[in-house]
Amino acid sequence: MSLEFAAIKGWMGRATVKILFVCLGNICRSPTAEGVFRAMAARELPEVALTVDSAGTADYHAGEAPDRRTCEAALRRGYDLSGLRARVVEPRDFQVFDLMLAMDRQNLETLKRQAPVQARGRVRLLLEFAPQCGLLEVPDPYYGGVNGFEQVLDLIEAASLGLCAALRSGALAP
Ligand code: 4NP
Repeated sequence: MSLEFAAIKGWMGRATVKILFVCLGNICRSPTAEGVFRAMAARELPEVALTVDSAGTADYHAGEAPDRRTCEAALRRGYDLSGLRARVVEPRDFQVFDLMLAMDRQNLETLKRQAPVQARGRVRLLLEFAPQCGLLEVPDPYYGGVNGFEQVLDLIEAASLGLCAALRSGALAP
């Protein structure tokens, strides 16, 4: 059993499991992941107390609500993101969160550079939890059309289900 596996098994006995989703601006992909995973975990993992949050590696949009197109696409599937506000990743996040899940490799690398050595293993790609999608990165929809926002939701819904299953079973791949 790897150390990481043991740690995740241990999470099920913890008071709270804390998960942070991370993208660049914190107005499209990571707030979507925050809203989708929070809703799904409430259904799939009612026995686990979770703290779910999101942040961006860039501060361009700090304080703003999620992108209008993101909110509209999410609401069509029943997720209300309107109360969320963008923030940048802070040093204390590396102390607080059990898992920090990046939307793409660029943000993964930024987090790994910022992370203290002991926190690096807790920084992963979200789409590791949806291998059936055949992608490791959630594409940035910001400069694209409406289909991009639908794809973001498709990928994040799949990964959120996978993450719930991984947390429940303790079978998280190292
Ligand atoms: P996000 O999308 O990282 O999914 O929130 C973006 C939002 C804003 C910008 C880029 C990506 N921007 O360049 O302002």
